[in-house]
Amino acid sequence: MTATAKTPEHPDIDADMWGKIDEVIDSNKDTPGCVITVLRECQDIVGYLPVELIGYISDGIGIPFSHVFGVTTFYSLFSLTPKGRHIIKACTGTACYVKGIKEVIGRIENTYGIGEGETTEDRRFSLEGVRCLGACGLAPVVVIGEDTHGDVTSDKILGVVDRYQ
Ligand code: FES
Repeated sequence: MTATAKTPEHPDIDADMWGKIDEVIDSNKDTPGCVITVLRECQDIVGYLPVELIGYISDGIGIPFSHVFGVTTFYSLFSLTPKGRHIIKACTGTACYVKGIKEVIGRIENTYGIGEGETTEDRRFSLEGVRCLGACGLAPVVVIGEDTHGDVTSDKILGVVDRYQ
């Protein structure tokens, strides 16, 4: 493994993660157009892309920070803020909307103090509004991690969400 630049300090990135990040950079840096691949793999390691990591990647692959940072803000698959351990995806498609997903989302927002696109301070949950999940027969639908929950209501949703620690 080759260190690509002086390793910065970051509370969310431990030595093991930095080692994996170096491996990603070293194995991709000579490949033209590697920015997205490196960012995606580094995000998989850390869970998001802190600005210090973007700077480290920029140095490592020899591409200006402004360009690398621009890529992270252009593509929605990249997150510059930490995500929760559990991602709550609430479907805001038509069928779910008609069946009351707004009330379900509102209950989650009020209980956990987060809005769509936000993460709880303890990083337990992130809440996302998403388009039709393809399970309209189960509307309204919420997906938590890999689990699909159908026929949720504003009364039932807290019991469902609370199972995820
Ligand atoms: S509209 Fe929600 S699953 Fe289709």
